[in-house]
Amino acid sequence: MRVLILGDVVGRPGRRAVRELVQPYVNKEEIDLVVVNAENAAGGMGVDVKSAEELLSAGADVLTSGNHVWKKKEIYSYLNGEPRLLRPANFPEGAPGAGWYKWRNDRGLSALIINVQGRVFMPNHVDDPFRCVDRILREHGQHTSVVIVDMHAEATSEKNAMGWYLDGRASAVFGTHTHIQTADERILPGGTAFITDVGMCGPFDSIIGIERELVIEGFLSQLPRKFEVAEANVVLQGVVVGVDEKSGRASDIRRLRLAWEPSH
Ligand SMILES: [Fe+2]
Ligand SMILES: [Fe+2]
Repeated sequence: MRVLILGDVVGRPGRRAVRELVQPYVNKEEIDLVVVNAENAAGGMGVDVKSAEELLSAGADVLTSGNHVWKKKEIYSYLNGEPRLLRPANFPEGAPGAGWYKWRNDRGLSALIINVQGRVFMPNHVDDPFRCVDRILREHGQHTSVVIVDMHAEATSEKNAMGWYLDGRASAVFGTHTHIQTADERILPGGTAFITDVGMCGPFDSIIGIERELVIEGFLSQLPRKFEVAEANVVLQGVVVGVDEKSGRASDIRRLRLAWEPSH
């Protein structure tokens, strides 16, 4: 099976690019499963009901997220009722929603999608993501060999550690959160497709999706700033992974950067 994975969707430009580019790409490349990180989909920070629904109806099968998922309060109850939107699994017990989802399609394909958050240089003191994935695999991994893991983290070392830790136990481990695509995609010896960060879907000539001047001013002044999503050329970034659905082993991983041109 073929899996399309897209990095953090940033605000309206990112959502629009997903809406216009994903379905044609899925048809052309015969993609079976689309996983999209939605943590920045609403105004560049957080995900609200409208943006989650928009991404799901644009062709995303499963939405992952990260530290910003809690920004919009309305998403708390939505997380409890919409299992296709994940929050990092290693938040303390009692957090709304879930960090894993068993996807299935009408052709009999299935996959377990897991979302965890790293602890190095991250704002929240979450539980151990490594043991958390172990537990999810133990409890929910029996009936599907295809496992896709979004490791939402800042530190490249922690993301690499997760890739190697899960080598041979996951079909794909991909990093999100930094919004900058890395060029280290590969198949690890045990058959796990890995990339440190898939990048973002949003304005490219920006600073990780935000207006450049505002971010630079923030660094210069060290004073709080209200950040706005940039108006710039938009790209869709991610990877396409080929997975043998019987063994769960990845056969290939290809980096993706599609330019989006406004249609009006
Ligand atoms: Fe993000
Ligand atoms: Fe994040």
